[in-house]
Formats: sequence, structure tokens, C-alpha cells
Amino acid sequence: MTISHVDGYLRKIMSDCADDRAGEVADYIPELAAVDPDGYGLSVAMHDGYLYSLGDSGTAFTIQSVSKPLTYAMALSRLGPTEVDAKIGVEPSGEAFNQISVDSRRRPKNAMINAGAIVASSLLLPPVREVDPEVVEKTFEEILAFYSACAGRQLTLNHDVFESEAATGSRNRAIAYMLDSFGGLDTHPDAAIALYFRQCAIEVTTDDLAVMGTTIACGGANPRTGRRVFSQEVAQRLLSVMTTCGMYDAAGDWVTAVGMPAKSGVGGGILAVLPGQLGIGVYSPRLDEHGNSVRGIQTCEQLSSNLGLHMF
Ligand code: DON
Repeated sequence: MTISHVDGYLRKIMSDCADDRAGEVADYIPELAAVDPDGYGLSVAMHDGYLYSLGDSGTAFTIQSVSKPLTYAMALSRLGPTEVDAKIGVEPSGEAFNQISVDSRRRPKNAMINAGAIVASSLLLPPVREVDPEVVEKTFEEILAFYSACAGRQLTLNHDVFESEAATGSRNRAIAYMLDSFGGLDTHPDAAIALYFRQCAIEVTTDDLAVMGTTIACGGANPRTGRRVFSQEVAQRLLSVMTTCGMYDAAGDWVTAVGMPAKSGVGGGILAVLPGQLGIGVYSPRLDEHGNSVRGIQTCEQLSSNLGLHMF
């Protein structure tokens, strides 16, 4: 298939999905409700680095939970699987992203739900109980550098969205304090939360998500920059956990219909990966009851069936 063939297919899929206005923009983080609900972007990054960009592919939105596999990759890279597995499981929770969902060892069931992501963020901080804003800031800069290497460009923080979540995030604070009471955090819960809220407010476009996706597809090496960001082993772990847990309590429906490891965010983004082949970034901020983009899912379903991308 030539580049213009693929481009034509992608345009057709977008026009077929364009009229779907179902779902609601997230408003439990007040600043997220300020976006254009009809924004719609699609990018596909190939394993050779070629990037297809359509619609609102240049619109910036916050990464939200699409950050979770990346921070998990950082924790795995730094600490190794044994140390990370001691703190975070790899089982699907079958529950909503903001449930506490711990296993019999009181570990969060996986790193794709909020509880597991808060522990993963905490693992990147020095294991001390004091909250030092400078240490949080320095660790956030490391996260930003890692995500930027995956995207192949320098990313930045959306301060308004960060402040908005920090001002209203009682539920995540409650989760962090509960995990701390279980002995799940080596840092102060406030330090873990400060870092987690920052990582969620990093701004991306669908181009960024697609390039991050192809970096995972290519075993941790970004094909556009040639730079290795994480190992093949870490990429294999990410793809496994994204397949079983990335779409929360809709993971089974997703993998049946689309057949690709993926991660969604309440900012409206979805990142999907076809291992060895490509990364997909979709943006459409109206969400379903699971917190997943309605039109993003529809777009990925069509991509999968029209282009034969289902893995199984
Ligand atoms: O922690 C939260 O609630 C948000 N910062 C992220 C949640 C999220 O994106 C869930 N995904 N679909």
C-alpha cells in the first residue's frame, strides 16, 4: 500500500466517525471541561518513522492516564521487574480506573489504574518520608525528559490543568493515603501525588502519542530519532500490561474489537500499538462511562478492521 493509499483510508475513517457526538467531556478536573468537545485528531507513526497526521493532530491536550505506561516503563528501567513487581501487580482489575483495586498482598492490581500509577510515580522518588518540593520538581524533570524522548520532541507541563487537578484531587489523595496505610509507599503520599498530578498534566498531540506508540512498537527505540529510550524487555512488559489492563474495565471489549495494546486518558487521548509495526494516537475528548474516548474507540475499531491491524 502506498502512502497516499493509507492517507486516503485514514481520511475515510475519520469522515465516517466524524458525526459521532456521544459521550461527555471529563469535568471532575474542572480545567478539562474547557476544551472544545468536538476536537478530533488522528496520527499513525510507522516503524520506519513515517508519520501520518490528520485532523486536529496539532491540538495540544493533557496526556492524563496515557502517562501511566511511560512512568511504569521508567520504574521498570530504573529498578528492574523484581522490585517493581513487589509493589505493583499485573492483573486486570475489572474495575474503574479510580478504584483502590488491590490484591491479597495489598498491591495495586496493575500500573494502568490510578492506584498502581501513584505507586509507580512514588518509585521514581528517593525513598524518604519528607516532602521536598525541589526533589519532586527534579524528578518531574526526569519524567518530562523520558516522555520527551519517547515523543521525539521537548514536551511541557500545562500548569492550569495541573493546578486544577491539584485543587480538586481528593479521591487520588485518598487512594495514596490508603495505599500508604497498607505499607505500599516508601515516600510520603503527598510527594507521590504531587508527581503523579504533574505527569498527568503534560501536554501532547496525537503526533506525540503516535510516536510514543511506535517507540513502544519498536521495542523501546524511537525510530524517528534513532534513540533507545528503554529496553526490549520493558517494552514487552508494557505491551502485555496495556493489552490486559490499558482500557480498564473495558479492556476485554477493546481487545476483542481492536486487538491492540492501548492506553486511554480522560484528556481524550488514546495511544494504541501494533507491535513491531506502528503506533496510533487519537484525540476526541468526549468520553464513555469508563473514561475512554468514544470516537477514539470507534476510530481504532475501524482502523483495526479496515487495515487488518487486529493482532489475533
Ligand atoms: O488521576 C486522574 O483521575 C486523572 N489525572 C487521570 C485519569 C485518567 O486519565 C483515566 N483514563 N481514562
